[in-house]
Amino acid sequence: MPEHLISIADLAEGQLESILALALQLESTPHAHRDALSGKSIGLYFEKSSTRTRVSFEVGMAQLGGQPIFLSNRDLQIGRGETIADTARVLSRYVDLLMLRTFEHRAVVEMAEHATVPVINGLTDELHPCQALADLMTVHQEFGELRGRKVAYIGDGNNVAHSLMIACARAGVDFSIASPPGYEVADKYLDLARGLGADTGAGIETGADPHAAVGGADAVYSDVWTSMGQEKEQEQRLADFDGYTVDDDLMSRAKGHAIYLHCLPCHRGEEVTASVVDGPRSRVFDQAENRMHTQKALMLRLLDRA
Ligand code: CP
Ligand code: NVA
Repeated sequence: MPEHLISIADLAEGQLESILALALQLESTPHAHRDALSGKSIGLYFEKSSTRTRVSFEVGMAQLGGQPIFLSNRDLQIGRGETIADTARVLSRYVDLLMLRTFEHRAVVEMAEHATVPVINGLTDELHPCQALADLMTVHQEFGELRGRKVAYIGDGNNVAHSLMIACARAGVDFSIASPPGYEVADKYLDLARGLGADTGAGIETGADPHAAVGGADAVYSDVWTSMGQEKEQEQRLADFDGYTVDDDLMSRAKGHAIYLHCLPCHRGEEVTASVVDGPRSRVFDQAENRMHTQKALMLRLLDRA
């Protein structure tokens, strides 16, 4: 296993599949490994709001016999100017794992450079690798073998899109994204995904046409148009993303068995209609549950306890 999980690309070939296999096992036997992390603790640091990430890590760590500790920039001295490096060095003396949700991606990278315990990226402005683990687990639950499947993402080329694209590339899943002009995925992550896809056979396609993107897709995914920290752009984004709503018509252009995915929280009537997210193809609450199974697997692996 890598020392930290900052990006899905930190996982070597086979490690992603191995975490998913353990997560599937944990789902079917929730009490397995229940004392595996006894005496261990994880610091959970948040600069942004969270429902799923916070609760799934807290409960997941407790289920493994360990202790989660919620930390926020509103309370820590980091909010008053203590450096990231010193915070990393100090927290490493107390906890066995650190999870961070920050605005700047660089903050998580810097924390990992100075921490002496494994650091997990719990979402930055650029990446959301823990979400991508749960996303692929959900596709696996539905269809079994991941290789050769296709995921289509409609909307903003944001943190969730970047990690999903990289995860698909690593797992041999074709990935197609349709974004309005100006909201495409970052070139550095596209190049990274295409490099990984060259090894696994995953095709990575970008474009602006949602109809083209969902053709042949096994799963259709959308995320909010305005991410945390972008609230001032909301009005402009609502206009720019017009035509990028996942609705029943768009779903009908994917494969007949296609499922709908969303990391949540969602805005019904914007990136997805209520009829899709609350409809029979939606797997969004399984996906939310899978955050806990995959993160339990990740913590066990990072601490070499499974
Ligand atoms: N999907 C996700 O990360 O949700 P939270 O923001 O509630 O943690
Ligand atoms: N892209 C969203 C994901 C929230 C889980 C955001 O960053 O706000």
